[in-house]
Amino acid sequence: MPTQALPLRQASEFAAEVRAGLTKPGQRELPSKYLYDEAGSALFEVICVLPEYGLRRADARLLQRYAEEVVDGLPLPVLVAELGSGSGKKTRWILEALSRRQRTYYFPIEISSSALAACAKELGHIELVSIVGYEQPYLEGLAAAAERRGSDEHLLVLFLGSTIGNFDRDAGDEFLREVRAILSPGDALLLSTDLVKQVSQLLPAYDDPAGVTAAFNRNLLCRLNRELGSNFDLSAFAHEARWNARERRIEMHLRSIRKQRVEIPVAELSFTLEKGETLWTESSHKYYAEEVLAMAARTGYRCDGQWVDREWPFAQNLFIAE
Ligand code: AVI
Repeated sequence: MPTQALPLRQASEFAAEVRAGLTKPGQRELPSKYLYDEAGSALFEVICVLPEYGLRRADARLLQRYAEEVVDGLPLPVLVAELGSGSGKKTRWILEALSRRQRTYYFPIEISSSALAACAKELGHIELVSIVGYEQPYLEGLAAAAERRGSDEHLLVLFLGSTIGNFDRDAGDEFLREVRAILSPGDALLLSTDLVKQVSQLLPAYDDPAGVTAAFNRNLLCRLNRELGSNFDLSAFAHEARWNARERRIEMHLRSIRKQRVEIPVAELSFTLEKGETLWTESSHKYYAEEVLAMAARTGYRCDGQWVDREWPFAQNLFIAE
């Protein structure tokens, strides 16, 4: 029997979003945020240590190398809020640099309570740092954290890991504007962006020889089978990673290797998938370093600093709210 992993309201939202994506004219889609159930999150952690996937290491390298410079560019005193903190490992460098200058409040914002617990465990012992987690969606958690600051305090928002790349470009801009609406002039946003690089370097990162990314992708169908009662036959789907040069993004798909009938009772949906037809499960946009400056300008910020990793082209960008 399917187990209901999500509370009822979220489960019906899940079913409605799956239905909307799978009935889109032309290309069927599944919302990428549902890749991250417990198994999906664990698989993502494995992806991050694969030799082919340099993104997490580049992110961490930059923070380790330049945390002092980043912090030197901030208005102090500052409170730190992180959108999607995960285990919090990379954040250590920023918090340690800040703790050499001030007592720091850190607000990790996560919908997963286990990620918040891991984050508190990882960062709980840094001297002069106090942690208060928010188990909420990003913007709600950020609004709550922003309310805690005093009149002389600024806010530093961390949005690391190039998670912005999983938004479509317009949705990414909209999200940055929504964050800006919660901030005050002079507040900061440290935004990580994965940069455009050789396709020969990118493709194996999303289609690794050990098959971890394939398992991460297929796990979405396991989740649908379990939580929405669907009948996807996992052995009949091939993982596919494509570089879309025009949109500058990696697209992950699941290709049906035979014609099959799909039933998803909880989403009140059934349809036939043709042999070769794909379900589009994720986009991972890549940026030019200069493009990020324009992104800042059109969403209400100026970019005061940009630090680039050459080994795995990747940038940390310090946006200041105008
Ligand atoms: C979370 N996000 C930034 C990852 C990425 O690279 O777009 C998700 C991922 N998908 C496949 N591998 C990693």
